Amino acid sequence: MRACDIIARKRDGLEHSREELEFFISGYVKGDIGDEQMAAWLMAVYFQGLNREETQILTDFMMHSGDIIDLSGIQGIVVDKHSTGGVGDKTTLVLAPLVASAGVPVAKLSGRGLGFTGGTIDKLEAIPGFQTSIPSEQFLNQVNEIGLAVAGQTASLVLADKKMYALRDITATVESIPLISSSIMSKKLASGANRIVLDVKFGSGAFMQNKEDAELLARTMVNIGNGLGRKTVAVLSSMEEPLGYAVGNALEVQEAIDTLQGHGPADFTELCLTLAGQMIYLGDKAASAEDGYKLAEELLKSGAAMKKFEQMVTAQGGSLKLAMAQAKYQYEVLASQSGVVQSITARDIGHASMLLGAGRETKASAIDLSAGIVLKKKVGDTVQQGEPLAVLYYNDAYAHRVQDAADELRQAYTIGHADAHKEPLIWKIISE
Ligand code: URA
Repeated sequence: MRACDIIARKRDGLEHSREELEFFISGYVKGDIGDEQMAAWLMAVYFQGLNREETQILTDFMMHSGDIIDLSGIQGIVVDKHSTGGVGDKTTLVLAPLVASAGVPVAKLSGRGLGFTGGTIDKLEAIPGFQTSIPSEQFLNQVNEIGLAVAGQTASLVLADKKMYALRDITATVESIPLISSSIMSKKLASGANRIVLDVKFGSGAFMQNKEDAELLARTMVNIGNGLGRKTVAVLSSMEEPLGYAVGNALEVQEAIDTLQGHGPADFTELCLTLAGQMIYLGDKAASAEDGYKLAEELLKSGAAMKKFEQMVTAQGGSLKLAMAQAKYQYEVLASQSGVVQSITARDIGHASMLLGAGRETKASAIDLSAGIVLKKKVGDTVQQGEPLAVLYYNDAYAHRVQDAADELRQAYTIGHADAHKEPLIWKIISE
């Protein structure tokens, strides 16, 4: 078998055999196949696609290209969740303790943020003392003792994806549904959970800008998960405007705590309850997703989910008694006209918060955990000229970018006189 012949087959729109995919992926991980040949194959896949079977086989080989986390020592059905990412997406901070308080074990490996989207690990590090890098034995013991642990992904998980993703990034081949699906699902499957709930977002602040692409991505990932023996459900949710009001690490942790205490934003609370309902059902702790939703509502109201969050923070060395880092300055961005907020381009809000230091421009950038934005108006709200649309939080190092961030924020808002058309937050749930 020659790598060149495999590339030619995909270039010509032919189907790969299992042996071809194994040869190509394992050859690339070992270094026998170079970046130039992988780049050519990725571009061929970008144009020709991969069918359902090829995508599943590719994911399987990618998943086995690094460590596989063994969660068999955990009692109960472990259910994992993955979000395709968005602006103000602090869902894991609420969802993990909420689901754990229903008796479903949560052993979650999360990532850091890049560009206009944030990452759970950065957010958790805004809690004083919180350790996101913990030895695997401690991670498993913690899940057995208190029902949940959230830690950073190990460097040796899915080695094929590390190399392939970096190459896709510089060869304009990221935007391919089979490649995105196999990249995400190989990491989820290698993380060891028995069942998986995917939060697939669409809209201006999401990876997938429109509903149709998001649905195709969701269906492809659900097929991979189910095809490889892990029951998988996808919730399609809107990311047209930021989720909740807070964007930025410590600010989002505070909003998550408010939500766990029962007074969070309506949209964010609704998403958490919907995802929790699915996870509790998949974890066999409710007879249906609707019953799971109701149970999650009770656990939020009773304070049980907040108690679980506190247990996790303590177990991972953090303290909620110590104050989180606070930004030195606040800047109110005022509305230049009166009316009704018609839309808020989530991507621009994410970018503005990055300008304030809350997000990374490159993988190597440092971030300011206290910086970010708190929106004062959401889609459908009435606003008077001169009223604050949002407050920017920042420190000296990023003070020179505040005007740019404020301009970007103002441009993200469209204010008009008609009633606003608000996209429903949850669009569809796909289970097969
Ligand atoms: N996130 C991933 O993990 N992989 C992709 O390909 C795209 C988004």
